[in-house]
Amino acid sequence: ADEPLVLGIETSCDETGVGIVRGTTLLADAVASSVNDHARYGGVVPEIASRAHLEAMVPTIRRALDTAGVKASDLDGIAVTAGPGLAGALLVGVSAAKAYAWALDKPLYGVNHLASHICVDQLEHGRLPEPTMALLVSGGHSSLLLSSDITSDVRPLGATIDDAAGEAFDKVARVLGLGFPGGPVVDRMAREGDGKAIAFPRGLSNAGDPAYDFSFSGLKTAVARWVEARRRAGEEVPVADVAASFQEAVTDVLTRKAVRACKDNGVDHLMIGGGVAANSRLREMAQQRCDKAGIVLRVPRPGLCTDNGAMVAALGSEMVWRNRAASSFDLSADSSLPV
Ligand code: KG4
Ligand code: ZN
Repeated sequence: ADEPLVLGIETSCDETGVGIVRGTTLLADAVASSVNDHARYGGVVPEIASRAHLEAMVPTIRRALDTAGVKASDLDGIAVTAGPGLAGALLVGVSAAKAYAWALDKPLYGVNHLASHICVDQLEHGRLPEPTMALLVSGGHSSLLLSSDITSDVRPLGATIDDAAGEAFDKVARVLGLGFPGGPVVDRMAREGDGKAIAFPRGLSNAGDPAYDFSFSGLKTAVARWVEARRRAGEEVPVADVAASFQEAVTDVLTRKAVRACKDNGVDHLMIGGGVAANSRLREMAQQRCDKAGIVLRVPRPGLCTDNGAMVAALGSEMVWRNRAASSFDLSADSSLPV
């Protein structure tokens, strides 16, 4: 049988993403981002995001179809992020997907955003073994998930109890006056600094703490206090050392808990996804710790880690491949959709 040709639509946050995938082959990945419209507010403004999705939706779908060189009539299905995410933003994607599926008479697949972040790795490294452990770290989520069937059995083992990892990067960048989004610039600054310069706290790392949950709000506050104390004393803030030491604390906890989750559950494959997976130190430390533990690490290239439509198409294609039931046209956006 031919590998399923699926178009995927992602609008859960600030990226309007449309991807086209055949089986596990990426044919097009068109993304329009409203990130610059949010920069002066220091975070994503839901109303602005929804409006930007509405404007970008149809042109981005056209662009993806052009790039892939496929006819819409040849698609085997339309997949869309049904949640979790910003309600108004999700609604734009779900409405567009329904309209296209209806007009083209194609099956509609509502998919989970977190499962898509995992499945996208197939576009780069081929089919994921099952089970696979996934560490998803972005501006909106920080979770450990055990995927036994990417289309139907993804079990959350733990998550952040306060800030997401990416949120912590963004807030620390703001404290250091580095702009938004903070992850890439903190990553860059940290390369010039010493990760051992300042001992910042590792949240939920004491004996008796939940093994797979994360907490980054204490770390964020500790960094802010440390920087303020320096400023109050009229001393220069060693920005690179603060960035590197903060980044070291985040990646230490993330990789330690991810490797532990693999060992405890007898899983020998770990994938890392979400925007923070672009972080160079996280990739390096995860590789070292996985090598030591005999775990195979899979991390998609940075462009596939951040939100995009290809990841939705990848999961949609997998659903068609496994003959999973299509969604009905009652499909609604669910801002807190569980995996
Ligand atoms: O997955 P994503 O594009 O959107 C969400 O679903 O949140 O992730 C965006 C987050 C932002 O917080 C951004 O600061 C962070 O990912 N990020 C990074 C890096 N690149 C992006 N964090 C650390 N290091 C990076 N290189
Ligand atoms: Zn995401």
